[in-house]
Amino acid sequence: MRRRVRVKSPANLAFIKYWGRRDDELILPLNTSISMNLSSCYTVTQLEVREDLEEDEIWVKFYGEEKKKLAGKQLERVFRQIERLRQKYGFEFKVKMESENNFPADAGIASSASGFSALTVAMMELMGVRLSERELSIETRLSGSGSACRSIPDGIVKWERGEGEDGGDSFAYSLYSVDYWELWDLVVVVSREKKKVGSAEGHRLAKNEYMEARLKRIEERVREVERALEEKDLERLGRVIENDALSLHAVAMLSEPPLFYLNHKTWRVIDWLQNQRERGLGGYFTMDAGPNVHIVCERRDKDELVAGLKEVEGVEEVIINKVTEGSRVVEVE
Ligand code: PMV
Repeated sequence: MRRRVRVKSPANLAFIKYWGRRDDELILPLNTSISMNLSSCYTVTQLEVREDLEEDEIWVKFYGEEKKKLAGKQLERVFRQIERLRQKYGFEFKVKMESENNFPADAGIASSASGFSALTVAMMELMGVRLSERELSIETRLSGSGSACRSIPDGIVKWERGEGEDGGDSFAYSLYSVDYWELWDLVVVVSREKKKVGSAEGHRLAKNEYMEARLKRIEERVREVERALEEKDLERLGRVIENDALSLHAVAMLSEPPLFYLNHKTWRVIDWLQNQRERGLGGYFTMDAGPNVHIVCERRDKDELVAGLKEVEGVEEVIINKVTEGSRVVEVE
């Protein structure tokens, strides 16, 4: 057992999105997804065991906000993961958690992915339990934020849907290491507002006929992304990721009740990007469950895209990410 541990964990951007579950308890996805870890969007979480604690204490510091005790639904989710792991591995101590995010949370930049992967790795380290990367990604998946399991391995990561009923084959692993291909994700922040409907609800509502259409093509898209990665072909990758993101949002918008994650600023950025492409710049968009746009590009066009984006009306900030490593323990005591 340790007294104190600190873990740093990245957010990740999905090229093929995870949307919809076949099991809400075991967090089993309807499809395989692929993502890259983001170098400039991460959570650092510290967990501490203290004898004087009668209750778990959960503190968070979100980007641009004061440090505060977590409350409500978010607290419940964090507490549930701590308690689940504590019981499973026979750990009897209360913990103090302090977590800090360096990017806007809950706005479609996968803050729950960095947060829950950091928490899970920190808990395992604190309890002194050594797991394989595969097992660690499964424990992270079970936190409730499925996409968090993709923040465990390094670089470009695949989360297998798996076939089994117990979820033992639904885990994440690295397809390519950090240095394989210098890809960039420019997060175009057009809103820092927290979304009204979380992705948990989105997964539950993803049950319409448009979802069936999405799933029919999804394996083909996974293979296409793998081919594009293998050939380092940005245009090929770009075409699929745009298509996959639009398919997710079509499903969301046609859910009942409809979920609108995108807003007029999102479309303005997409429109601008398409004009840049006509000028010969290589950048492709994708959006998670929020209005902010991710633009995937290579080094040759990155600086020009960033400079141009800052001039687009409604753009508040551009966060520049390259592919990075997965969760890491950065301090132990
Ligand atoms: O892991 P969750 O439950 O927060 O869902 C993530 C959903 C998306 O971000 C929209 C897609 C993805 O694969 O990251």
